[in-house]
Amino acid sequence: MAEQDFSKKEKNYYTDIPQKSEAFFLKGSNSYDWGMKNRLARIFNPKSGKTVMLAFDHGYFQGPTTGLERVDVTIRPLIPYADALMLTRGILRSVIEPSVANSVVMRASGGPSILKELSNEQIAVDMEDALRMNVSAVAVQVFIGGEFETQSVHNMTRLVDRGMRYGMPVLGVTAVGKELTRDARYISLATRILAELGASIVKTYHVPGFEQVAAACPVPIVMAGGKKLPEKEALQMAHDAISQGASGVDMGRNIFQSDAPVAMLNAVRKVVHEGASVKEAYQYYQDMKNK
Ligand code: R5P
Repeated sequence: MAEQDFSKKEKNYYTDIPQKSEAFFLKGSNSYDWGMKNRLARIFNPKSGKTVMLAFDHGYFQGPTTGLERVDVTIRPLIPYADALMLTRGILRSVIEPSVANSVVMRASGGPSILKELSNEQIAVDMEDALRMNVSAVAVQVFIGGEFETQSVHNMTRLVDRGMRYGMPVLGVTAVGKELTRDARYISLATRILAELGASIVKTYHVPGFEQVAAACPVPIVMAGGKKLPEKEALQMAHDAISQGASGVDMGRNIFQSDAPVAMLNAVRKVVHEGASVKEAYQYYQDMKNK
């Protein structure tokens, strides 16, 4: 039986205040269900609308990449400064504390190593296990123009179908094969195909003409880091991507291969979340590095 209400206070239904129904903050994401939006809001900061993802999933096809020989030693100190962690389930379960506050973007495709044809990937994580690990999105590589293009697109669409059942966003990563040119024409083709086929987030490289690429993609784009650059150039690339329409960055080697990874990750945060200029962010990096 419900407890009786003995309060002497007069009830107030605030009849003069209409209940608000606000649009979801993230580009192209307003029509999803509550669970999907909640997961996206754990990846993208609702205040800035942006994300700083830390990618350290390279081992799934490259083995112990430089800087990731011991994830427990090199990556753990960076964790408090990332919004989302992009990693494999093997590393999550063996190395990452379950008490971390970050959202998790789980690598869910794989198969070939660097010794084989990379586009020959398959789905590598079951949706049930992704839910068991409480992840906020699953990530899949799509090889537009690659030898196994259709198979990799199918990996993504199957994950989207399964994800939709449970409110799990899919991050589609545009892979660039050896034979493919990394230019705006190719990247806008690939990003648009991924979004049209159901990816909730698209990860891709920064290229000249990125503004048009971002404009033509109806869902949030997260900039991929790529190979290690001098810190100032990497900050410039992140700044350009954000000012040209990216909703965040997902950087790996430019963070964990930096001379001062914590300083670099925090400098990237300044650019992404606070709109710092390259000069300000680089100064911040140097000051933090020299402390
Ligand atoms: C992309 O293909 C994989 O997810 C990589 O392992 C990762 O995203 C690469 O990060 P970065 O290029 O910034 O080192």
